Amino acid sequence: MEHKRLSPFPADFLWGSASAAYQVEGAWDQGGKGPSVWDNFVRIPGKTFKETTGDVAVDHYHKYKEDVALMAEQGLKAYRFSIAWSRILPEGSGAVNEEGLRFYENLIDELLAHQIEPVVTLYHWDIPQALQDQYGGWESRQVIADFTNYATLVFNRFKGKVKHWVTLNEQNVFISHGYMLATHPPGVSDPKRMYAANHHANLANASAIKAFRELGVPGKIGPSFAYGPNYAIDSKPENVLAALNAEEYNANFWMDVYMWGEYPKAVFTWLEEQGWAPDILPGDTELLKQGAPDFMGLNYYQTATNAFNPIDGVGLGKMNTTGEKGTTEEQGIPGLFKNAANPYLEKTNWDWEIDPTGLRIGLRRIASRYRVPVFITENGLGEYDKLTAESEIHDDYRIDYLRRHALAIQEAISDGVEMIGYCTWSFTDLLSWLNGYQKRYGFVFVDRDEADEKDLKRYKKDSFYWYKKTIAANGANL
Ligand code: BG6
Repeated sequence: MEHKRLSPFPADFLWGSASAAYQVEGAWDQGGKGPSVWDNFVRIPGKTFKETTGDVAVDHYHKYKEDVALMAEQGLKAYRFSIAWSRILPEGSGAVNEEGLRFYENLIDELLAHQIEPVVTLYHWDIPQALQDQYGGWESRQVIADFTNYATLVFNRFKGKVKHWVTLNEQNVFISHGYMLATHPPGVSDPKRMYAANHHANLANASAIKAFRELGVPGKIGPSFAYGPNYAIDSKPENVLAALNAEEYNANFWMDVYMWGEYPKAVFTWLEEQGWAPDILPGDTELLKQGAPDFMGLNYYQTATNAFNPIDGVGLGKMNTTGEKGTTEEQGIPGLFKNAANPYLEKTNWDWEIDPTGLRIGLRRIASRYRVPVFITENGLGEYDKLTAESEIHDDYRIDYLRRHALAIQEAISDGVEMIGYCTWSFTDLLSWLNGYQKRYGFVFVDRDEADEKDLKRYKKDSFYWYKKTIAANGANL
């Protein structure tokens, strides 16, 4: 279906950009902040690329005014950032750290003073270490009450100033990496424990949304989900079934629960067969249904292409965290599906397939299945960038990537998808959890690397100016 004429972006479309506390703030032990699980995890040898940490990151904690000034210069309409739970509640619950609340209040006020809408993520992977120690974090049902208490505190403090709220960032990523791949904290590899922790995260998400409504907080709330739409490698029915399995297992398994409070039947049946299904206690389904979000937050980077995978087929594989193209290992779920290279798509140096049409497809699938507006809360290109002798960064590859994805959004709008906004990942360069500082995403280059913090000086990339023009034209220049 090719549109001859594209519908314009809505007048109030939020052209934004995003970050996460651990990846930008630094000041990991300053301002009364307690440690999060990431503060400890990065100190375990071999866990991150060249042992990088977010101790200093890009020092946004101290440089936030400079960063907001750059956002204002670009004309950004929205800035999505996350609050570090342990900056507000150093022990996860109990005593409140006023200094932490004040940091975010100052940031929010600074944004509002520049007509930039703050979009607040409550949780971007950094659960307080105290809760991990006390009861195993997401593995205990106690986390539901503690997360709701933390969310309520933040809602009450910032209500009226913040209109768009994100509950959990990429639950599918932090749960699978934390409890299956063991590449994120707490570094566990146990499917039974993973599905239990995941169920608690679902309940915490719903409980926070329910509290949001009960408190009468004005605005909209939803989770941000890392969705990579699945394609079959070809029309061979067993490959089409594999792609359906992948879509149900990797996407519907989370988004159906957010929207409908129920797990997809086929996946749940499969989990029961494996002995991995979570315990659904009386009241759980009711709570999940009461916590349906106002919008679906979509973090889109790539699609996945799938093929049949026999019962004794390929399982978990290693990711490319080095930037050496072609080092991603084959992976899948035996008996359900495996991933295959899509012959039509180019890859980044980290082997992420570049697929703007996949974004349109993903938006269409979400809009048709769930009938809610979509807010793209992340999309971007992680690449090596070079600072020239003239202090410039010629990232035409990033401009090309973002332009094609923005156009795909406009196409989806023209298809009838209701869109709230588009936050690129990321505003400044920042720490990539497992890939260090060399995999850059920002409009603003930050001069530091894995070995040396240097002066953390900010430089505008060519993409900075491109996005500025795009925002000014409300996307009419794509
Ligand atoms: C998303 C996360 O998974 O993708 C971000 O929400 C992350 O925090 C981004 O940085 C890019 O991933 P990576 O691994 O390239 O840093």
